[in-house]
Amino acid sequence: MLLHIENILTAEELAHIDHLLTQAEFVDGRITAGYQSTAVKNNLQLTEQSPLANKLGDLVLAALERCPQFTSAALPRRIYPPLFNRYATGMGFGNHVDNAVRGLSHPMRTDLSVTLFLSKPDDYDGGELVIDDTYGCHHVKLPAGDLVLYPASSLHRVTPVTRGARTACFFWMQSMIRDDARRRILYDMDQAIIGLHRSVPNSLENPELLRLAGCYHNLLRQWVEL
Ligand code: NI
Repeated sequence: MLLHIENILTAEELAHIDHLLTQAEFVDGRITAGYQSTAVKNNLQLTEQSPLANKLGDLVLAALERCPQFTSAALPRRIYPPLFNRYATGMGFGNHVDNAVRGLSHPMRTDLSVTLFLSKPDDYDGGELVIDDTYGCHHVKLPAGDLVLYPASSLHRVTPVTRGARTACFFWMQSMIRDDARRRILYDMDQAIIGLHRSVPNSLENPELLRLAGCYHNLLRQWVEL
């Protein structure tokens, strides 16, 4: 499942992040690339250990906690500390699949990848995230503050930036539900239940809705990995 979630960050948060990033020192992005990615990766990143990356990462994690749609879709078990990258004019990232495991001391499986766009689309040309799946090829270029969630197993790339610069936050997650198809079923069911609660009168006492909510939790119980 490839999912676009809007307005993760407020305009104030985006302005604050933008201000902090103007003083930031970006380094060669190949520091986090695996063997296969190194050859095709050409961008800049904040180092993972930098206090600024940690501060910005905490801000992003707090914003994610405010978003029930994100939790519903990802069912996160562990979130890798968010990273920040920049593609200046001429930079891009060729086709690759993200590493399956991240972290040396506490390794985690990467089930999902996230890109949270920080630059306004009008501020750069190119720089599209292109994700291949069985339904074809998806070109993703979102408003600042929006994110895309997609399976980390997908082949993907970032097309070269031809004007301006593209700054983004990205991270990986291990989900409580490893399988993408199962995660999709749970997401659809959860969203349908939420929609019904809005439209059915007296929904909290509706026996069918209670039963459906029970099905959701019992399906989750069948599949969950902790
Ligand atoms: Ni990638």
